[in-house]
Parts: sequence; C-alpha cells; structure tokens
Amino acid sequence: MAQMLSGSERAKFTAAKLATDYVVSGMRVGLGTGSTAAWLVRQLGAMVTNDGLDIVAVPTSARTAELAINLGIKIVTLDEVGWLDITVDGADEFDRHFNLIKGGGGALLWEKIVARASSKMIVIADKAKDVATLGDFALPIEVIPFGLQTTKALIEAKLKDHGFKALDVQLRQRDGVVFTTDEGNHIIDTRLGMVTKPQDLAVDLNSIPGVVENGFFIDICETVIIGHETGNAEVRTLVDGKTVTATKQVAMNRYSDFG
Ligand code: A5P
Repeated sequence: MAQMLSGSERAKFTAAKLATDYVVSGMRVGLGTGSTAAWLVRQLGAMVTNDGLDIVAVPTSARTAELAINLGIKIVTLDEVGWLDITVDGADEFDRHFNLIKGGGGALLWEKIVARASSKMIVIADKAKDVATLGDFALPIEVIPFGLQTTKALIEAKLKDHGFKALDVQLRQRDGVVFTTDEGNHIIDTRLGMVTKPQDLAVDLNSIPGVVENGFFIDICETVIIGHETGNAEVRTLVDGKTVTATKQVAMNRYSDFG
C-alpha cells in the first residue's frame, strides 16, 4: 500500500505522523479538517486501538467527527472540556511568521474557535503550503445567508479600501449548489494575490456585519511540521520570534499500517 500513495500523500502522512509525538494520554486534543488532518486522525485512531492512547478530542468539522468516531476516538464538545491541550490541523498556506490561510475545506470557523482554545496549535503540511507571502490561495470568508449579496458587496468595498484592485470574489459552490458550512453559513472566496498586512485585513473583514469569520489565522500557530515524501520532515517552531528548525525522519514502512 505504501507504494500506492502519491508523493503528496506520503508527505502529508509524514507530517501527521510526527505530530502524533506531541499527543500523550490524558490530553484534550483538537482535530483539524482536511486531507492532512485526516492522516493525523487515522494515526491517533490506531494509537487509541493498539497502544491504549487515552485522549478526548474536539473535531473541527462534522466529517472529522465522523472519521474519529469510526476509529474509536472519544469525541467531546468544546464546551464539555472548555480548553484544549493541543490542536493539530492542516493549512492552505503558511508564511514565515506562521500566519495561515485556512478554510479551503470550508471548516475555518470551527477550526479557528478550536485553535484559539488550545494551549498549542501545530500545523501539519506538505511543502506546497509554504509561502513567502499569504494570498495566492483564495482567502475564504464565512458569511451568514441573510443579506448575502449585500455582505459580498461590502467585502468587495473593503478589499478596494485595502488597495486590492482586480477583485476575484466568488460565492463558493460545490456540485452546482451554494456550499454550506457545518454552521449553516456560506463561504466567499477572495483571491488577493499578495497580502502584506493580513492582520489589518482580518480585523477589517470581521467588522462587516454579515461576516462571521475569515480564513486568516494570525499569531495562533507556533509549530509547523512540513512533511516530505521521503519520510523526512522539518519541524519549525517559533521561539522568541525566531524560527528553530529540526529535521526528523519517519520510517517509510509505517505507511503500510494504514492501507
Ligand atoms: C479546512 O477547512 C482547511 O482549513 C484545511 O485545513 C486546509 O484546507 C488544508 O487541507 P488539506 O490538508 O486537505 O490540504
């Protein structure tokens, strides 16, 4: 089965595998959403079943909840635990300050609430997510259904205020219908190109009444694990504003456990 995984999936597996080193029994764990986070959930599920790992977890989407429950991971609500020891999630982009764009999978709202309620947030990713400046990936903005077109127009005006000229602002569709999040909201995707002040834009976008949250994750993540298809990974951690990098290796034969 190891040979059947694409290079990209092996890289995601590697990052997720290394992230499991941060999870020990007794922890309250936030589980991210997306294809990389799914590898983490599968590996934690195996540790629960085979190694007696005893954790409770808060999922960041209905689909992560379903996967975790099927694998025997104890799921609780955020309100039941109040706070989390760690959250591990994927990202669509991360920059050198570990600021992120998230929400490509539409789960940004629960993801941000869960990450903000965690003592530590780790991002797991392959190297394609590593960018000098955020913005090539379209920024997702979660909006409520009421007054959708008005909110969209206000977002466009706000982006113009911030100097973005050639606007590409789209209401997300899936299979020909408007995409709806787990909270019953919609997503507006805005391709911005290059965002030099994501924090300012994030605050301003959230000031629009119909906007629930945006996909910038600023000053939330402190460790990024970048997996490579070879089984090597870089663990980058911010220490006093500086990035410390360690290189680690995951045994290639571990892929076959998840065939
Ligand atoms: C889900 O809403 C997103 O924030 C994901 O974390 C992000 O899209 C990364 O997903 P992949 O791991 O599938 O690339």
